[in-house]
Amino acid sequence: MKIKKAIVSAGATREWIDPVRFISNASSGKMGFCIARELSQWIETIVYIHGITSEKYSKLENAKNIFAETTVEMKNAILSELEDFSLIVMAAAPVDFKPSENQNQKIKKESNNTLNLLLVPNPDILKSIYESLYKNQISNTILVGFAAETNDLEKNAMEKLKRKNLNYIIGNYVNKNSVGFGDVESKIKIFSNRGIVQEYGPASKELLAADISNFLKSNL
Ligand code: CTP
Repeated sequence: MKIKKAIVSAGATREWIDPVRFISNASSGKMGFCIARELSQWIETIVYIHGITSEKYSKLENAKNIFAETTVEMKNAILSELEDFSLIVMAAAPVDFKPSENQNQKIKKESNNTLNLLLVPNPDILKSIYESLYKNQISNTILVGFAAETNDLEKNAMEKLKRKNLNYIIGNYVNKNSVGFGDVESKIKIFSNRGIVQEYGPASKELLAADISNFLKSNL
């Protein structure tokens, strides 16, 4: 199969609580950025859809760059890029819940001894992609997700692969203080519906991105 377009998401989304506070996470965008850069060596069109990233991962040369701040914006940006013969890699860390209300004024602490925030679910972007592919009869696509887990990697990754209808899921262990978060060496396992199909690392994200790109190229 000849892939014509890669759509790669990276970074964290951000959901505002009030004009000065938000919910987000610690994703730097590095893995998605490095994967998009590697894919550009063999895929003609690269669409790099990023949320909040470190400055150096916010623009990819020779790609269509799209900034999406919230999870819903990221979902809409990705859905509008889907077409036949696409490879979609969801390396972003979208925020799963958002505040139920938009506060247009700063929440004052004097009036609150405690603060109850009601959060409502955001869409699951991978599930929405699958539904859109099906509904719009877009075919010959490869859908790849990530599973960043603190425990039970294989079990959780396989469960996500099935639940989100993915071709591949790339699993790694994450923890605030250890391997897998931010700018450090990481180890990954790639799963398909047959179970673990490949392991790489420990290595830098630059090298792992090259491994992932080569793996995808030879397993289309
Ligand atoms: N993902 C997504 N939409 C979301 C959240 C996550 O498409 N709203 C994608 C991520 O980009 C990743 C995969 O789903 O490729 C798994 O993300 P992860 O956060 O590990 O899983 P969740 O589905 O959010 O489940 P949980 O947080 O319960 O582990």
